[in-house]
Amino acid sequence: MMQPPRVPGQAVRRVAMTAVGACLPERVLSNADFERMVDTSDRWIRARTGIRERRVVEKGTGASVLAAAAARDALARRGMDPEDIDLIVVATVTPDTFVPATNCLVQHLIGARNAWGFDLNAACSGFNFGLAAVTQFVASGAVERALLIGADVMSTITDYQDRTTCILFGDAAGAVLLEPAQDGEGILGFHHKVDGSGSDLLVVPAGGSRLPASHDTVDNRQHYLRQDGRRVFRFAVRSSADAAVELLEELDIAREEVAFLVCHQANARIIDAIAKRLGMPQEQVVKTVHKYGNTTAASIPTALRDALDGERIAPGDILLFSSVGAGLTIGTSVVRWGGERGPA
Ligand code: UT7
Repeated sequence: MMQPPRVPGQAVRRVAMTAVGACLPERVLSNADFERMVDTSDRWIRARTGIRERRVVEKGTGASVLAAAAARDALARRGMDPEDIDLIVVATVTPDTFVPATNCLVQHLIGARNAWGFDLNAACSGFNFGLAAVTQFVASGAVERALLIGADVMSTITDYQDRTTCILFGDAAGAVLLEPAQDGEGILGFHHKVDGSGSDLLVVPAGGSRLPASHDTVDNRQHYLRQDGRRVFRFAVRSSADAAVELLEELDIAREEVAFLVCHQANARIIDAIAKRLGMPQEQVVKTVHKYGNTTAASIPTALRDALDGERIAPGDILLFSSVGAGLTIGTSVVRWGGERGPA
């Protein structure tokens, strides 16, 4: 698992993230807005989740629009032309359409006419799983430059009549550029898991092949995300921390060597509990959940962009990406940050 599989006749290269882009919609939904929509309070939301506000798109905005904006941001930081991109992978649970896949729309929107790609659904672990997938292509030499984008328009599958879920989610996209690494940087390893026995804990019941859309599914609000919050909470804390410990052991990296924990931003209490289990102080924890809420596949790359903007992360730092999502999926990756490479 630690080393990418070899492709016959081709070298295995280490792979680095060389630029990070993000797109957050302008429209803000505050806790006060939710007080007017459902039976809740700013106090309850802040105490139980740490969230103060989240961003949402204007109606009719597909994930591809946010994804393309995040991709353009990453490319601009690297001074790279869209035509230089070979592969675009979009991690999302809210594609513009089931058919065609969203990466095709992004490819067209940004003018990456030499790129192929695919979509990937690992819910909140989409970025972590995507990182493992895209790394293989660059490591094997099959592609030189790839964009991995986590993009979700959660407002389109959020039930704004259900106070137990609606306060949690926001819309966003984050994009990373992956290229062959230079010395002293790169993706060091990953340790991902799936536990399908928990598939009913976090689910959009209708709209797929088992329960296609019908008048009944719409009337019963079955196109919105439902979750057993308490069970997901417990699972997230335990499994994230355990997976992180396992991966660090496999990589022979001491916990003290990790500079920053960049968790999926679902709930500040979950992030704090994971950090506590790993013995990491608050200064080493990246948090954006208070201002963006849970943005599913976008949360880790947008949190990374936020920490870079705050100049918290320095070249050489070891970063631990940790996520739990619908599936259930558990994603853990370790990266040695080499710094944003800037224009080529
Ligand atoms: O992205 C990955 C997937 N999702 C997650 O990681 C989410 C994981 N779960 C959570 O973050 C938390 O479980 C929630 C934030 C969803 C809920 O927090 P909690 O501390 O687990 O609350 P709870 O579900 O145990 O509910 C406690 C009480 C209940 O009332 P009773 O039964 O004690 O009378 C709820 O009905 O809080 C009530 N409640 C609310 N009250 C005010 C639930 N939602 C709200 C609300 N405002 N928005």
